[in-house]
Amino acid sequence: MPRKLFVTTALPYANAPFHVGHMMEYIQADIWVRVLRMQGHEVHFVCADDAHGAPIMIAAEKAGKTPQEFVAEIAAGRRQYLDGFHIGFDNWHSTDGPENHELAKDIYRALRKEGLIAVRSIEQFFDPVKGMFLPDRYIKGECPRCGAKDQYGDSCEVCGAVYAPTELKNPYSTLTGATPVMKSSEHYFFQLSSQRCIDYLRQWTGHAGRLQPEVLNKIKEWFAVDEQGHGGLSDWDISRDAPYFGIDIPDAPGKYFYVWLDAPIGYLASLKNYFAKTGRDFDAFMADPAVEQVHFIGKDITYFHTLFWPAMLHFSGRKAPDKVFVHGFITVSGEKMSKSRGTGISPLKYLELGMNAEWLRYYIAAKLNAKVEDVDFNPDDFVARVNSDLVGKYINIASRAAGFLSKRFGGTLTAQHAADGQKLIDAVMSQSREIQRLYEEREYGKALREVMLLADRVNEYVDQNKPWELAKQAGQDARLHEVCSVCIETFRLLTVYLKPVLPALAAQVEAFLRVAPLAFADVDRPLGQHTIGEYKHLMQRVDPTLLDALFEPPPAPVDATAVDEPGGEAIAETIAIGDFSKIDLRIAKIVGAEYVTGSDKLLRLTLDVGEPKPRNVFSGIRSAYEPQDLVGKYTVMVANLAPRKMKFGVSEGMVLAASHADEKANPGLYILEAWPGATPGLRVR
Ligand code: 2FM
Ligand code: ZN
Repeated sequence: MPRKLFVTTALPYANAPFHVGHMMEYIQADIWVRVLRMQGHEVHFVCADDAHGAPIMIAAEKAGKTPQEFVAEIAAGRRQYLDGFHIGFDNWHSTDGPENHELAKDIYRALRKEGLIAVRSIEQFFDPVKGMFLPDRYIKGECPRCGAKDQYGDSCEVCGAVYAPTELKNPYSTLTGATPVMKSSEHYFFQLSSQRCIDYLRQWTGHAGRLQPEVLNKIKEWFAVDEQGHGGLSDWDISRDAPYFGIDIPDAPGKYFYVWLDAPIGYLASLKNYFAKTGRDFDAFMADPAVEQVHFIGKDITYFHTLFWPAMLHFSGRKAPDKVFVHGFITVSGEKMSKSRGTGISPLKYLELGMNAEWLRYYIAAKLNAKVEDVDFNPDDFVARVNSDLVGKYINIASRAAGFLSKRFGGTLTAQHAADGQKLIDAVMSQSREIQRLYEEREYGKALREVMLLADRVNEYVDQNKPWELAKQAGQDARLHEVCSVCIETFRLLTVYLKPVLPALAAQVEAFLRVAPLAFADVDRPLGQHTIGEYKHLMQRVDPTLLDALFEPPPAPVDATAVDEPGGEAIAETIAIGDFSKIDLRIAKIVGAEYVTGSDKLLRLTLDVGEPKPRNVFSGIRSAYEPQDLVGKYTVMVANLAPRKMKFGVSEGMVLAASHADEKANPGLYILEAWPGATPGLRVR
């Protein structure tokens, strides 16, 4: 009986492009989905952008965009990664889509009807300038223990102290610099601490085979209550006050769902959107008890997916997840990834360098298991595994046999196999169930090891039979034909096993073998007497210099962009209007100008700025102006610049002139001149 599945990966925040950590999760899930599809099951595989929340709202504002525009731009960049790495989602949607608004409200109303929503007043930091409650990450201050400045609201990076944001000394809002004030407001809570929720979650989490053992251990800690009654599950604050980019809470003006409430509902919303597009019945599908709902996630979001999410679904009368598969993080040469900078590997750069996406799929798969372990990307290991296993063992089989078949036998295989050949084919066939089992259990590393052991056996067979020698010997045609046919048949079987990991390569092989898309059922359908196509080289080896290029730091922006900067330099850092007003600019009348003996750069200017006494200013404009051309003109000077003692006297200010950053390449110096009517001493503002 074919199974019916609904599979997702975590929804990425729509505030940044993908990093290699995302790609690892998608590759892991994509392989699993392909395995189940190749077994003949019905699998719907969806994802979406996680669009809501304060950070996205603030990032959009900084970028001068609406949150909707901001997330749409991020969403538009997704395709190239997904196609590039052969991630076969059926649908990509957004948690800001209408389906999610509707579903989130429905689920909330159902939970409220169940009596699981509470309303309580809580006190929180509020930024009086921004008019907004401050999430902890936007509050900084001095560590209450060691006094270190600019520490976040949860812990001190200097002394390691852990505290509440309210304990910070001299707290400030990182958004405006304002001192936050405590303010109370009503919040909506999902009563996770209720006995009904606890009982249900104990049962759901304890269901055999649902969660990995490490995950179960973690959950045990979360459930644990100590002798003082501390610990255990707490109610979950699901509301945020306006301004917030999110879904408005029914019957609660000015309140929005916290992003984590509607994010997982986005799984359902994406499926619903997909079903609507393809004419399927979403409600009927989700009501079908046979449907298996499976979520792939990273270890950092386990709490949300193993406690909040199943409880929300169950108590709103919906189907809870059947499996939550948790994976670790990806490290690069043992280094942890930074949330903001990602890792040293940019997935897009990988593709732009022309590196084969399936090398990465193969390498990641070879390192993955069913545990919540981190996976390390090691460049040398990457080159070795791809070149010696994938190309050296697997691809090699086809390239060793195909030429003889087409040159000597018209590309037609023989079904007549001697005992050794048939034994080899049987051995390769017999591993099908085991390999499928390993894949389904997400033991991809073990599955691929099995496949490579089989490839080793085929290569041994080739080495023993030496087709290149058979080809030279008289009377060995039948044996040559048979050996090459066995190679191609086993190559086909290995291709079936590798297809979930290497779908694009498998498609090339299918074209070469002239067979329909391969599935696991094809293992038991030998090619027999079958004519194959022309062999074209299937996969290059990795050139190790590509990895150097992949890790090379991006070129410094100066070289690449300096040419395009206005005036040869980037616009300086933004300043506040208050910074600008510190500079006192005045209209000055040039009443005197003369050469400075001993200087070929300076002119000495006498400036009337409406004060009783004119100012004496040395200005480096001799290369551009003759003294007589300047006298009588009105210009702009910095009137509050501290007097500077120079070799030729004291300079009491500065006149303004424009020039290119690279004066040598772009000579030219242009003093500013005021429009007629301006009088000495008027302030320029
Ligand atoms: O941690 C994250 O990146 C979240 N955006 C994951 C959300 S998963 C699901 F709940 F939507
Ligand atoms: Zn400290």
